[in-house]
Amino acid sequence: MKRKPLHEDPIKHIVWKGDRLQVLDQRLLPRTVKFATCRTAADVAKATRDMVLRGAPLIGCAAAYGMALAARRNRLKDVLAAEPLLRRARPTAVNLMHALDRMLDVAKSGPEATLSKRMAAAAEAYYRDDLAFNARMATLGAALLKKGSNVITHCNAGALATAGIGTAVGMIRAGWIAGKVAHVYPCETRPYLQGARLTLWELMKAGIPATLITDNMAAHLMKTRKIDAVIVGSDRIAANADVCNKIGTYGLAILAKHHGIPFYVVAPSTTVDLSTKHGDDIPIEERSIQEVVEIFGAPIAPKGAKAHHFGFDVTPHALVTAIVTEKGVVSPANSVNLRKVLTTHVHP
Ligand code: MRU
Repeated sequence: MKRKPLHEDPIKHIVWKGDRLQVLDQRLLPRTVKFATCRTAADVAKATRDMVLRGAPLIGCAAAYGMALAARRNRLKDVLAAEPLLRRARPTAVNLMHALDRMLDVAKSGPEATLSKRMAAAAEAYYRDDLAFNARMATLGAALLKKGSNVITHCNAGALATAGIGTAVGMIRAGWIAGKVAHVYPCETRPYLQGARLTLWELMKAGIPATLITDNMAAHLMKTRKIDAVIVGSDRIAANADVCNKIGTYGLAILAKHHGIPFYVVAPSTTVDLSTKHGDDIPIEERSIQEVVEIFGAPIAPKGAKAHHFGFDVTPHALVTAIVTEKGVVSPANSVNLRKVLTTHVHP
């Protein structure tokens, strides 16, 4: 299979049309490729809440476009009303809050007559920034890998979760192009199956050798096969460099430590939340238990079963080998290094 150039946008899954936003409905993948149309900020909030679109950086980009939709009639009060709607859509991915803060600043920084134009331009800029951050992180991250690595990833931190080629999957893709990644093992990622449905779909489309594992196979794989790295994304990184990501990430980090395998987190600076001091202070989304006791509407537990559905967990920074951001690599992952890298000015 021909290796596609790194910066080629592999999947056009979010398309801004000026008066509407079209997003690929990720709930239907990989069986059906179908776009949903958002005409209002409320539509974007609902699409985010219902997981039509997901992944921290993409949630941020969509919220920025949602604010641009709210500004279409050049009325600041519409934008101010839309903002809390969008902010409530999901609690954990801080990219959402970051995008809304940025868009609010833009809304308030000029005359109402130009509101729509300014907000559309700001949303486009937010999207383009994320695309560029992906490419930069991919290059920085791939440099950390040794030739011929077999890697495990979790959830979907790929193109579908961002504006570009992805965070963790972007690093994997760059590593594969450079001959540093030989094989990828995506965990299926119960209960929402982002690994099986989305990451494997992306990897197979890109022609990257990949073998699906269920979440409970990771330990056995690390013990019995050559695994050289675990590479994941993040939804929020606290000031002390603790990393919040999809449920199951913490367990993988413990396993990686036990087996002496490097554990890499790839996330743009928009995922870092310096106002949250410690990982344990990050709000963890709890979703409907239907998503646990059923698969595609079919029950898999006894009727009336109790269940938990924690969407995310927090990995203590001591288990993280490095955090790859577009501004540089934070290693060892701690508060001092995180702050140092984030305040570095990077020339484009
Ligand atoms: O619930 P999701 O699918 O939105 O969770 C996504 C993840 O946990 C990703 O790993 C994270 O957002 C990083 S995406 C680049």
